Amino acid sequence: MAKSQIFTCSACGAKHPRWSGRCDACGAWNTIQEETPLSSGPAKKSLGTKGRRLELMDLATEEAPPPRTCSGMEELDRVFGGGLVPASATLVGGDPGIGKSTLLLQAAARFAEAGLSVVYVSGEEASAQVRMRAQRLGLGKADVKLAAETNLRDILTTLDEARPDLAIIDSIQTMWADNVEAAPGSVSQVRSAAHELVTFAKRRGTAVVLVGHVTKEGQIAGPRVVEHMVDTVLYFEGERGHQFRILRAVKNRFGPADEIGVFEMTGGGLSEVSNPSALFLSDREARAPGAVVFAGVEGTRPVLVEFQALVAPSPTPQARRTVVGWDGSRLAMILAVLESRCGIPFAGLDVYLNVAGGMRVNEPAADLAVAAALLSAREDAALPADMVVFGEISLSGALRPVGQTENRLKEARKLGFSQATLPERSAGPLPEGVSLRRITDLAGFVGEIFGAG
Ligand code: TYD
Ligand code: MG
Repeated sequence: MAKSQIFTCSACGAKHPRWSGRCDACGAWNTIQEETPLSSGPAKKSLGTKGRRLELMDLATEEAPPPRTCSGMEELDRVFGGGLVPASATLVGGDPGIGKSTLLLQAAARFAEAGLSVVYVSGEEASAQVRMRAQRLGLGKADVKLAAETNLRDILTTLDEARPDLAIIDSIQTMWADNVEAAPGSVSQVRSAAHELVTFAKRRGTAVVLVGHVTKEGQIAGPRVVEHMVDTVLYFEGERGHQFRILRAVKNRFGPADEIGVFEMTGGGLSEVSNPSALFLSDREARAPGAVVFAGVEGTRPVLVEFQALVAPSPTPQARRTVVGWDGSRLAMILAVLESRCGIPFAGLDVYLNVAGGMRVNEPAADLAVAAALLSAREDAALPADMVVFGEISLSGALRPVGQTENRLKEARKLGFSQATLPERSAGPLPEGVSLRRITDLAGFVGEIFGAG
């Protein structure tokens, strides 16, 4: 019988009948891999009605929610939604070398101190290497049990006997199940290993944390295929060359998504940053044209960051648009609104936009700060140094109010800002001590801040 082949995208898991360079489901390039299906026989008969009868339960419950364990690292506990939940499965994804193993080794030690039994399985480094790292981090005496192994059968047997409260698997791409005929790191291996480990978590009540590398090349399956199997997905982000690292919850069944924890990579491991705004604004120059402070919110936490724009005549017919830390298509939209609603052209001008400190901003509330930075750079006119800006811009040029206005303003006041520019219709009790400029549309903002515009 001819062996039927399927092709699977390692980024999103979509199946394709033949190989192609680009996945039409997610648009990623070079991510499609050939796979041998698990069973290639004819479809089995319909399931019929011969199954086991399940016991149906009431939704109402007397049970208290499961007790969470806090590691004492506040930046981590917040991202977990207020501590680690027993029997939960978490994926921690991030670029290779960003600091995932360092973070999880530190977390393992802290959870052990908090009374959990912790097992750390490394499939990437030998035990001696992990021990050396622990020593460097000052965790040599932590009560964490270690194994260096990639065979999933052995790992599951060991965990089944040890029954730890927390098991960390570093990384999911190195694990291989001997019942799956595919190379470690392939989509079927990663999916099957994740499935086994998540099932184990639910069955034994162990909290399982899976580490997953994200690679652009698609050589090894991205953790995307694992995302829908786990309860919580955290991404560890940061720009190379910056020491700041941000742990971001993108999915959390036990807490709010979008919560962030901020860390700094030092010679002695990751240290917590409890006041990120102060850190992100620490290198500010006084009154620099093109620099605007945005009063943002990440999850429940206000974070002030500086947007920096540079606008210069383009030497080439095709003007450049370069963005770091924000969405490129959102920048194009704001340039278009400035051009058609306020009559300020950017044709023939190169535009560079950067978020200082290596932070990534996803909020539409940053629209007004971006517009202000672009205008300030184009006009070579600095905004007042003690002003924060926020508000969403619609395609008509009108300003939309955004959530958590009070939270944003309080943080601004705390950091010594005394003026804020914000949408007219912003609701809520607004704190005193910050003078407010309320504006209804972008054209009005241009008039107010930069004269007649
Ligand atoms: P690592 O945790 O191994 O990354 P990942 O598991 O995500 O691949 O971190 C590797 C980087 O972190 C490496 O470039 C060195 C740096 N690092 C420090 O700067 N300080 C430290 O104390 C440690 C342990 C690592
Ligand atoms: Mg690692």
